[in-house]
Amino acid sequence: MKRARLALLISGRGSNMAAILAAARPDYPAEPVLVLSNRGDAAGLGIAAARGVPIAVVESRAFKGDRAGFEAAMEAALAKHGVEIIALAGFMRVLTPEFVHRWEGRLINIHPSLLPAFPGLDTHARALAAGVRLHGCTVHLVTAGVDEGPIIAQAAVPVLPDDTEASLAARVLAAEHRLYPAALSWLAAGQIKVEAGRAVITAAEYAPESLLNPLPRAALLSTQ
Ligand code: GAR
Repeated sequence: MKRARLALLISGRGSNMAAILAAARPDYPAEPVLVLSNRGDAAGLGIAAARGVPIAVVESRAFKGDRAGFEAAMEAALAKHGVEIIALAGFMRVLTPEFVHRWEGRLINIHPSLLPAFPGLDTHARALAAGVRLHGCTVHLVTAGVDEGPIIAQAAVPVLPDDTEASLAARVLAAEHRLYPAALSWLAAGQIKVEAGRAVITAAEYAPESLLNPLPRAALLSTQ
């Protein structure tokens, strides 16, 4: 099997990156060849280095107001490592339409909400404030509109009455770690195509049951 050469772009903790590195055994369709951070102090860099994955830093602060220069430096690092697909994993810089266009169909992101609800920042606080009963995460192809690209996969988690931003974030993050390696594997294996702006996955199994939260009494759940 030819594995797609994968770069993981991070800005911080790198727990999604770590989940993907752990999943990327020799039979996984993507081979992590580079972890690239826009911050030299990103904790994820140490995790990647400990696993023997090449790391690079392009300090976004050094390119203040020069997004083209910042992205040209990133492109140089990506080219040096022969990168074929990119997974954004907590990468907190908005990419230019030019960069996104060059990598269209080969650039994927995870976002901590059930898009199109709660694009942008502070998703968990906003979900709590809105009183939604289901929250979650979304893996999507990246297009020029922030948090707008075709959805590949989503995971829902319940919002519980006692939740705080931290407890809800932790529940979503655990779901992210399960969802992202799976969604990325479909992209790497060439099993995703885009039709009329929507992602179609040729290999996926779909959950036939609906998710309910809160749960109705058992008697009401019976279909007899
Ligand atoms: C994750 O929750 C990810 O979904 C989110 O940042 C966190 C990074 O955590 N990404 C975004 O908000 C992108 N807009 P990690 O560094 O531990 O993977």
